[in-house]
Amino acid sequence: MINEEIVADRDVDKLYAGMRGRHGVHNARANGYLYEGYFRREQQILFTLLNPQAGVLVDVACGSGLMVEPLINKRRLVVGLDFNADACFAAHNYGLNVVRGDAFGLPFTDSSVDEIVTCQFFNQQQPMAVRQFVVESARVLRPGGRVIMVWRNGTAWVHRLALACFSFLDRLRRLPSFPYENHSFERIETYAADVGLVVVSQAVSFPPFGWRSSATNSWLARIIGASNICVLEKSIR
Ligand SMILES: C[S@@+](CC[C@H](N)C(=O)[O-])C[C@H]1O[C@@H](n2cnc3c(N)ncnc32)[C@H](O)[C@@H]1O
Repeated sequence: MINEEIVADRDVDKLYAGMRGRHGVHNARANGYLYEGYFRREQQILFTLLNPQAGVLVDVACGSGLMVEPLINKRRLVVGLDFNADACFAAHNYGLNVVRGDAFGLPFTDSSVDEIVTCQFFNQQQPMAVRQFVVESARVLRPGGRVIMVWRNGTAWVHRLALACFSFLDRLRRLPSFPYENHSFERIETYAADVGLVVVSQAVSFPPFGWRSSATNSWLARIIGASNICVLEKSIR
C-alpha cells in the first residue's frame, strides 16, 4: 500500500546536497552528525542490535552508506536505499548494493526482507511520513523480521542545546535550516500496532559515552538521552 499524498521531499533533498558539498560524501557530518566520533559510537550501538542470522538487510535512507559499510560481505545481501542520487553513487562506491528509491514506497516485494535499519531519517519527516515508513516496513519484512530505527530525541536537553547552538551558527553563516520534527516512542508504537509490528525494545542513548538505557523517561534520559532507538518485529502469524 502506498499513500499517494506522501512523496520524497525534494526540498530536504537539496539541503543534503549542500551538506555533501560542504563536508564531502565520506564524512558523517554530510549525513547530519555533529562529528565522526558520535557517528561511530552510534554505529557500534546499532550493531549490537542486529540479528547476525538475518540474510537480507536494507538500510533505508542510507545516505552515503557509511552506517552499514562494515557489514558488506558479512551478510548475504546488504542493500542501501536512498532518494538522493549523489548519496546513492557514494554508497555504491563503497561496494554497497544500492537502490535509488523512496522510503514511503519501498521497491521490494512483500515479506522479502529480513532486517531493516534506518538512522537519522525521521527528524526531517512529518508524522504521516514516518507512519508510512512503518507501514511499508511491515509489508516488506518477512514474518519474524525486524526494523531498527534510530532518531534524535527532541525532548533530551543535550539534544535541544546542540540543536539550538547549531541552528544559531547556521543562521550566522546564512546556511539554510533543516525542518525538524520530534517523534515520540508512543507515536511509533501506535503506528506499529496498526500494522502488526510488535515493540521488541526501546532505549535512549548518549553515543559519546556509549551509554544506553531502556528507562526512556528517566531524569537521566531527559538530560542526555540524545538518540532514540526502537526495535520492532513483524509477528509470525
Ligand atoms: C541524515 S541522512 C542519514 C543518512 C544515514 N542513514 C546515516 O545515518 O548516516 C538522511 C537521508 O535520508 C534521505 N532521504 C530523505 N527522504 C527520503 C525518502 N523519502 N526516501 C529515501 N531516502 C530519503 C536523504 O537523501 C539523506 O541521505
